[in-house]
Amino acid sequence: MQQAATRRVMAQSAAVGTQQQYNYAIIKKFSIMALVWGVLGMAAGLYAALELAYPFLNFNIPEITFGRLRPVHTTLVIFGFGGSALFATSYYVVQRTCQARLYGEGLANFTFWGWQLSVGLGALSYMFGITQSREYAEFEWPIDILITLTWVAYFWVYVQTLRARSQPHIYVANWFYISFILATAILHIFNNLAIPVNLFSLKSYSLFSGVQDAMTQWWYGHNAVGFFLTAAFLGMMYYFVPKQAGRPVYSYRLSIIHFWALAFLYMWVGAHHLHWTALPDWTSTLAATFSVMLLLPSWGGMINGIMTLSGAWHKLRTDPIMLFMITALSFYGMSTFEGPLMSLKSVNALSHYTDWTIGHVHSGALGWVALISFGSLYHMVPRLYDTKLWSLRLVYAHFFLATIGIVLYITAMWVAGIGQGLLLRAFDDQFGTLAYTFIETVTFLHKPYVVRALGGAFFVSGIVLMAINIAMTIRQAKVEQAAIEAKIASKMARA
Ligand code: HEM
Ligand code: HEM
Repeated sequence: MQQAATRRVMAQSAAVGTQQQYNYAIIKKFSIMALVWGVLGMAAGLYAALELAYPFLNFNIPEITFGRLRPVHTTLVIFGFGGSALFATSYYVVQRTCQARLYGEGLANFTFWGWQLSVGLGALSYMFGITQSREYAEFEWPIDILITLTWVAYFWVYVQTLRARSQPHIYVANWFYISFILATAILHIFNNLAIPVNLFSLKSYSLFSGVQDAMTQWWYGHNAVGFFLTAAFLGMMYYFVPKQAGRPVYSYRLSIIHFWALAFLYMWVGAHHLHWTALPDWTSTLAATFSVMLLLPSWGGMINGIMTLSGAWHKLRTDPIMLFMITALSFYGMSTFEGPLMSLKSVNALSHYTDWTIGHVHSGALGWVALISFGSLYHMVPRLYDTKLWSLRLVYAHFFLATIGIVLYITAMWVAGIGQGLLLRAFDDQFGTLAYTFIETVTFLHKPYVVRALGGAFFVSGIVLMAINIAMTIRQAKVEQAAIEAKIASKMARA
């Protein structure tokens, strides 16, 4: 009896030791905010989807019209949800793999407040029509400066922690995270070179114009996909998949090839967003060529992740967190097959101005980015609080809601996009005129838009379940902690 109690107290003090050895407080804050922004951002996406299906929902209120809500959605999900999940997991991974405490408590806290403020102010400013109108970089110049300061602090905290490592080797997940931090810094600075109208005006104008402006924006845009939405989440994958599977990564050598190939290839592909425009033809051919080459390392990485589970496939039967991770990897494979296909000029001629692009985006964003984040957060949060997940059943329910949601979303967008593309380019055989009026192509979209909104509703319900599960897990940890403290106190009093 006494031995068991001693063991429990020892385990408890070991956990307290881990909590003191590493800075977990900052990770907890970022994880909670990832869920807060995730719920808000995905709910905004759902409302935007409903507005497209039922335009009366705009209610003529400028702040919530589709045009303003759309960047609110993209900013909250990419930077609020995705960004906070990346801060949280990168701070966890760098500490655990380097066996060193996170550098600079105050500086790390500054990255938290700087980031949350940027996301919150950005979203609010778009509702009031304050925007640079550069996709995924809509923040006006004062927020851009705040983001720059926050990012420099992030880089410093990360690099100093790496330098303080007690391990000689820098584990591959850190390479992915650091490339994301460096690439995002370069992209953010160059794409936001702008001059404000005056120091008291929130309006600014880009230093670039015409075709250079478009090229800079899409160099930024695709590398945001490549380094923010892909490389960084691969950092997450390379740490959390082996951890959850309880096995080493399938091929460490392949992970290094994956890293260097992505770092080299992604920077060239931005022009595939500008096929058939005023951009010189050779630039878009070059971008398409590099996009097709990207298929190889992307699939190498996907296979590396999935094969990490070899010998432990049975875990899929009992572990819903593993289900999230393996499904995320499958969607990573799917969207990195679809992307190169869409980068071919002939395919892009059909897909570009249609909802096919939106379908591709969400097979990557929901299927890959969101699912790998959910899996990693489910793995990490209980460990941060030294407890178990409150309900595994809710994790299963979340998984099924999310996957049904994604399937509805992307199939609806394939139907909408390919149908729309074919209608837009159909010619009348006899007169050579357009076979359909523009409004006919718009009314065709109504049904797929309703199905997409339904898919979105499934996905949002899933993340709401997750938020409840995580909140209850944290509550449960507090109750357990209080009980143990009371026990220790009563033992000490008796002694
Ligand atoms: C409940 C889930 C979601 C719903 C219902 C939803 C809905 C939408 C809608 C309606 C649009 C506008 C489409 C258009 O302009 O025609 C959109 C755009 C976008 N969403 Fe989502 N979304 C969801 C989740 C996410 C997540 C988790 C991410 C990223 C991690 C994301 C990233 C994006 C991006 C990048 C765009 C812009 C696409 C483009 O311009 O090509 N979405 N979303
Ligand atoms: C090998 C990998 C990939 C390639 C070659 C690729 C290629 C493409 C192409 C050709 C487009 C359409 C451009 C246009 O017509 O305007 C596109 C759009 C997009 N892709 Fe991918 N893709 C890849 C993977 C991914 C992944 C994993 C994501 C993750 C979320 C993603 C997110 C996006 C987004 C957000 C857009 C829409 C940009 C916009 O117009 O606003 N892609 N991609």
